[in-house]
Amino acid sequence: MLAAECTPYAWTGGLGDVVGSLPTALRNLGADVRVALPHYGSIDPAVHPITTSNAALKVSMNGAVEQGKVGQVAQSQFPLYLIGSDDYFANRSDLYGYPDDGHRFVFFSRGALEAARALEWQPEVVHCHDWHSGLVPNWIHAARSSGAHANGPATVLTIHNLAYQGHFGEELLHAAGLADGEFPEHATDPELTPRVNFLARGIRFADAVNTVSATYAREILTPAYGERLDALLRERQDGVTGIVNGIDTVTFDPAADPHLAANFSLRDMTPRARNKAALQRELGLPEDPDTPLLGMVSRLADHKGLDLLAPVVPHLVERGAQLAVLGTGDPRHHELLANAAREHPRHIAIALRFDPPLAQRIYGGSDMFLMPSRHEPCGLGQLIAMRYGNVPVVRATGGLADTVADFDARTQDGTGFVFHRYDPIDFFGAIARGLETYRYPDAWRALMRQGMSRDSSWDAAARNYLDLYSRALDSRRPARDA
Ligand code: GLC
Repeated sequence: MLAAECTPYAWTGGLGDVVGSLPTALRNLGADVRVALPHYGSIDPAVHPITTSNAALKVSMNGAVEQGKVGQVAQSQFPLYLIGSDDYFANRSDLYGYPDDGHRFVFFSRGALEAARALEWQPEVVHCHDWHSGLVPNWIHAARSSGAHANGPATVLTIHNLAYQGHFGEELLHAAGLADGEFPEHATDPELTPRVNFLARGIRFADAVNTVSATYAREILTPAYGERLDALLRERQDGVTGIVNGIDTVTFDPAADPHLAANFSLRDMTPRARNKAALQRELGLPEDPDTPLLGMVSRLADHKGLDLLAPVVPHLVERGAQLAVLGTGDPRHHELLANAAREHPRHIAIALRFDPPLAQRIYGGSDMFLMPSRHEPCGLGQLIAMRYGNVPVVRATGGLADTVADFDARTQDGTGFVFHRYDPIDFFGAIARGLETYRYPDAWRALMRQGMSRDSSWDAAARNYLDLYSRALDSRRPARDA
C-alpha cells in the first residue's frame, strides 16, 4: 500500500485511520501487506524509532536520478517503510500544502516502488490510496504495455475523497516520465488541460477502482458528486466497487479507552454519565446530566455541512441544548463558531484544534453526534460515535446513508436520525426528533444499544479488499498473456 497518511505516525483525517488499521486486518487473513509512507519531518524518531539504517534509493525524477532513503519503522503492527528525502519531506513541518506537492508525491511514489526493488520484494498488487500515488497505475500500465514488465503487479486505487485530485501543471508529466502523449484528463476535463490530474490517471489506469461506501460509489458516477471525473469513472467497464470502512476497534473501545473519565460497555452503560459530566466541566459548560449535549468532531469545511450549522445554532440554544465542536479548517467557520460560543457560553463550546484525545472524550461524553455532510465518502465519526453509545444525526449521503439507520419511533428500530435534503430546516428537523426522543429514556437506551451493537470492525471490509485484489489480478491477465 502506498499512502500519504497512516496513524499513529502522520495523519490529518480518515485516510490515515484507514491506512493505520486495514493492513492489520488483511494480514490477519494471511496477506503479506506492507505499507509505504513519506518520511515526514514531523515523525519523531524518539517516539517511532527506525530500524534499518536508512538505505539509499535512486529515484528517477525530472529525467535524472535523485537521492532518496528508505527506513523501516521498528515497532509497527505491520511492515511500514518510510520513503525519505531531506528536500521533499524531512525539512518541512506539514504533510501537505506546498507549491511542489506534485513533485513531492511523484518522488514518494517512485521511491516506494524503488524501495520494493531494493528490498527484493515484489508485491502481486500495489494498492494506491487517493491522488498522492495516483500516477503509480499509470507507470505500471505503461511498463506492462511496453512488454518490459509484463508480469508487473496489478494495481488497485481506493478513492477516499474525490474532491482532492492532485491537479498540477504539465511539467509534472516530465517530472514523472510520462510525457507520452496520452491524456486521459482530456476525456472529462477539456478546459483544464493541459493540466495533470493524478487521481484521473489512477482512475484511468488502475486494474480496479473502489471507494469507501456503496452509496458514494454510485453517487460519484453522477455530475452532482463526480467532481468532473464522473465520465471517466463511468467509462470503467468493471465499475467502481464500494467497500465501507471499518474502524480500529482497539483504539476506539469505550471499555478500555484511556482518555475517558469512565469506561463503559454494552453490558454496563451507567458509567457513561460520568464522561458527560467530565466533558461539560472540561469545556466550561454547565454540568447537567439532563441537558442534551450535541458533539461534532470535523474538518471545519462547507462540504462537512458546516454551513448548515450556523443557522441551526439559535434553535439549539432556544431548546436548551448544549453543543461542543472540535476541529480546524476554514477561518470563516472558526470565526462564526467563536462568535456563537462568545454569545452563548452556557450552550456552545468550541475547541479549534486537532486533539484526538478530546475527540474521544466527545465521542464518549456527548449524547448526539452531528454529521450533516454535503458529501461523505464513508465517514468514520458516525461509526466511532455509535460504538461509544452516541447517537448520530446524519445526512443520507455516501457512507452515512449506508451505516446509520433512521430511528423509527413506533418500532424503536434504528441507530440514529437521518435527513435527506441539504437544508438547515431538514437538519434541524432531524435534531429536533433526536431532542424529543431523548426525553424518553427507554427509547434512548434502545437507540444507544443498537448503535453500540453494530459491528464496525474491519473483518468484512478486509475480505472485500481481498476479493478486489483477486479481481484486479484477473483483469491484468490479458495484458500479461499478450
Ligand atoms: C476521507 C473521507 C471520509 C472517509 C475517509 C476514510 O476523509 O472524507 O468520508 O471516511 O476518507 O476513507
